[in-house]
Amino acid sequence: MGTQSTLITNIGELVTNAGGSQFEALGDAAVVIEDGRVAWTGRARGAPAADEAVDAAGRAVLPGFVDSHAHLVFAGERGVEFAARMAGLPYHAGGIRATVAATRAASDAELGQNLRALAAEMLAQGTTTFECKSGYGLTVADEARSVALAAKITPEVTYLGAHVVPAEFETDPAGYVSLVCGPMLDACAPHARWVDVFCERGAFDADQARAILAAGRAAGLLPRVHANQLGHGPGVQVAVDAGAASADHCTYLSDADVDALAASQTTATLLPGVEFSTRQPYPEARRLIAAGVPVAIATDCNPGSCFSSSMPFCIALAVREMRMTTQEAVWAATAGGARALRRTDVGHLGVGARADLVLLGAPSHAYLAYRPGVPLIAAVWQGGILTWQGGGWRDGARRSGARGGSAPDCSAPDGSAS
Ligand code: NIG
Ligand code: FE
Repeated sequence: MGTQSTLITNIGELVTNAGGSQFEALGDAAVVIEDGRVAWTGRARGAPAADEAVDAAGRAVLPGFVDSHAHLVFAGERGVEFAARMAGLPYHAGGIRATVAATRAASDAELGQNLRALAAEMLAQGTTTFECKSGYGLTVADEARSVALAAKITPEVTYLGAHVVPAEFETDPAGYVSLVCGPMLDACAPHARWVDVFCERGAFDADQARAILAAGRAAGLLPRVHANQLGHGPGVQVAVDAGAASADHCTYLSDADVDALAASQTTATLLPGVEFSTRQPYPEARRLIAAGVPVAIATDCNPGSCFSSSMPFCIALAVREMRMTTQEAVWAATAGGARALRRTDVGHLGVGARADLVLLGAPSHAYLAYRPGVPLIAAVWQGGILTWQGGGWRDGARRSGARGGSAPDCSAPDGSAS
């Protein structure tokens, strides 16, 4: 093996998803990571030596979560709106404008600080890849700084100038669509990989959405769509016709929508934290799975419809409320998210994958739903580097030199041995 290698051994359950299309796991397993990639997986007793070894003490190791839908560039919060909703008011897209006002008023430093805090929150919950949308600026300058800030912390940046029509264009939505397809796109495309549209009553209609996706594509961006969140509508069909990587929300689907998704390469990304936080009916995951539609789960972390950055929480909701099996939900939160971002290097731990791993403080993936609300993430590696350790890390896992000499024990944040 090459430069620096790490063996994680004595793994009770190693979720590999190695085949790609469905959950796969090995018991009594080990994984070797080297040069930031997965170099070997298999039974612990057959593992090769490495420069250092980590004893997982019978706990589970999973691919890092891939959160393929998040709105992290914003200022302010909408706790009062949430409380009013829980007291009986309905969710509506108009709340977005409150966050737009706060975001426009914020400094770059403030937005960057909020963004980094949310990214740190995600890492502590096992997310190693995340998408980040603009959409709370809605002027050329504010959208451009939003995507530029997002690009500093993730390669999966989405231009969402088409989030809602801002108040100053209330009487001229066509003028706003021209801005989104013209100067705003020109300013944002250099920093983004994706273009997204909120295709919904009260936001953008099918013709507007098609025009925006086509303009984005012409500028080199790949399409994804907010579709069928608040009611039945054309969003899924628009996404499929555009060859979008993902149609997100999919809460209200007709049979034709399900058939169109099944016949396409578009992933259905379900965001159960939104239904939890807006008290709406959950998407019908079983109907999609039965039709053969690949399903991803993501947080949609944003200050309005779901202010949670927790993939474990979404997994628990998917299992309890959408009747996904624990295996389906974990696949959807890892390999499913990767599919929704057209990534083949993350979401699985096949040989050659990016070494993004989560050590759970539990013996199996099922605990993510079995012990909801409990911080179960013991450690996280990103590109082979240990980037986060939780309190549970010290309870079993310990590092040691394996190939001659000893490596420093970093089993606790304060450096004390467990
Ligand atoms: O995904 N649907 C549009 N955008 C967000 C909501 C954003 C907000 O309410 O601030 C969503 O749910
Ligand atoms: Fe969203």
